[in-house]
Amino acid sequence: MEPNLIPVPRALLPGTGELVLDGRATLTAPDGPAAAFLRALLTRATGLPFPAPEPGTPATVALTLDGPPSLGREGYLLDVAEGGVRLRAHTDEGLFRAVQTLRQLLPPQIESPTPSAGPWTLPYVAVEDGPRYAWRGVMLDVARHFFDVAAVKGFIDRVVPYKFNVLHLHLSDDQGWRLEMAGYPRLTEHGSTTAVGGPPGGFFTQDDFKEIVAYAAERYLTVVPEIDVPGHTQAAMSSYPFLSTQEAPELYEGVEVGFSELAIHRDSTYAFLDDVFGELSALTPGGFLHIGGDEALSTTPEDYAHFMSRVLPLVGERGKTVVAWQEAASAPGLPPGVHLQYWRPTSEDVPDALTAAARAGAKLVMSPADRVYLDQKYAEDTELGLKWAGTVSVRQSYEWDPEALVPGAEVAGVEAPLWTETLHTPDDLDHMLFPRLPGVADVAWSAAPRDWDSHARRLRAHTARWEAAGITTYYRAPELTED
Ligand code: ACM
Repeated sequence: MEPNLIPVPRALLPGTGELVLDGRATLTAPDGPAAAFLRALLTRATGLPFPAPEPGTPATVALTLDGPPSLGREGYLLDVAEGGVRLRAHTDEGLFRAVQTLRQLLPPQIESPTPSAGPWTLPYVAVEDGPRYAWRGVMLDVARHFFDVAAVKGFIDRVVPYKFNVLHLHLSDDQGWRLEMAGYPRLTEHGSTTAVGGPPGGFFTQDDFKEIVAYAAERYLTVVPEIDVPGHTQAAMSSYPFLSTQEAPELYEGVEVGFSELAIHRDSTYAFLDDVFGELSALTPGGFLHIGGDEALSTTPEDYAHFMSRVLPLVGERGKTVVAWQEAASAPGLPPGVHLQYWRPTSEDVPDALTAAARAGAKLVMSPADRVYLDQKYAEDTELGLKWAGTVSVRQSYEWDPEALVPGAEVAGVEAPLWTETLHTPDDLDHMLFPRLPGVADVAWSAAPRDWDSHARRLRAHTARWEAAGITTYYRAPELTED
C-alpha cells in the first residue's frame, strides 16, 4: 500500500519489502541542519546510536548532496531499498525536506520525545519530489494573545514535518506590541502589558527574537516579521502618544478592528517607523518585512496612499522585500517584487486594485479566510475561534486552488494565518491547527490534483503521529472518524 505522506510527493514508486533500522544502523550526512535534525530525531525516538559506518562500507542511511541541479533548492530524491536509505538533493535544504518525508515513512513512534522499542521499519519506496510554491507559510498572531519562545518553538515543531518554509509573526496590533525596540522602550514597558481580555500580555526581548529566528533557520523556515501599520496601532500610540492624533490614547483589550490610525501627516511618525524598520531589519536575516496595511478603516484613501508612499521606501532602502495585506494593492509606487497577501473570503469579488497590482508584477500570497484562516471555527459548535468568514471544515481548507482566485496573477504561494483573539494556550493552537494544517501544506507543496478521499485516509493515519508527538487537543473532525 502507498505510504500516507502529506504533502503528496511529485512521484512515488512503492517497492515490495521493508528495511528495519536497528542497533547496527549507521548514518552519513554532510554537516548542516539536515544532518543535525535527522540525527536528533532518530536518536531521540529510537535510542539507537546511528554511528558513522566503518571506512569503506556503505551507510544504512546516507544523505548526499549529489542530486542534480534540476531538483532546485528544495527538491530531493529518496530511496529505500534492500541496501539502505538514500536521500539525495542539490542543497542541504533539499535534504532537510527529504528528512521530513523519511520521518513520515517511519512508524508514528518516531515522533515520540522519549525512546521506544520499535521496530523501526521503512517500506521500500522511491520518491522524487519538489514544491509547487516557493512560499509555504504559517502565521502566528502573538499580539492578540502572547505566545512565548517555548510556545513558538512548539508551533515551529508542528509545521516542520509538513514542509512549511515561512513563519510570519504578527508582532503588533491594537492589543499589544510584542518585540523589544531598543530605541522605544515604552513599546514593551507599556504597550505589551495587556492582550485581548486584559493582562498579562508579554513580549519578546531582542535575544528571544534572535533565538526564534535561529531555531527557525535550523529548520529552513524564514521568519517574516510584521509590524502592522497604519491601523491596528493602538498599543504603539498608547506607548508614544506623538504617533496619534487622539488626546490620550489608551491601551485596548477588545476585539474590534479598524478604529486606530497613526498620525499620517506628521514627520515624527515616519522617523519612528524608520527606526523600527531599521531595528527589525537588523534582527531579521530573511529577505522580507511585512508592513500590514489591512483594515485601515479610519484612514481616508488619500491618506492611505500618502502613508504608503512614505513607508514603502523605508523597507526598500534596507534591502528587504515588502509584504503587505491585500489592501496595499491600492498604494501608488509598489516596489518590484512586492508580495501582497490575499486574505478576504473567496466569496467576495477580487478588488480591481489587486488584479491591477498583480498585472503590474506584484506576487500574491494566498490566504483566503474561508479556506486557510485557521482561527475560523470548524463548525457551528466549535468552542474556540471566530466565524466572521464562515465555518471552515477540514475538507474546505484542503479542496481549493490558489491559481483560481486572481486569474493571471503570479502566485508566490500559500499561507495559513492563525489569529489568536480566542486562543490562549498552545493546546488551543493545536486544536485549530490539526487536522487542517496538513491540508494547507498539501495545497502549497503538491501540484497533484486534490483528492479528498486520499487526503482523508492520510490524515487518519497521521493522528497517531500527532498523539506520539504529544498533540492531544486536535479537533476530532467528523470527516475523519466516519469511514
Ligand atoms: C486581516 O485578517 N485583517 C488581515
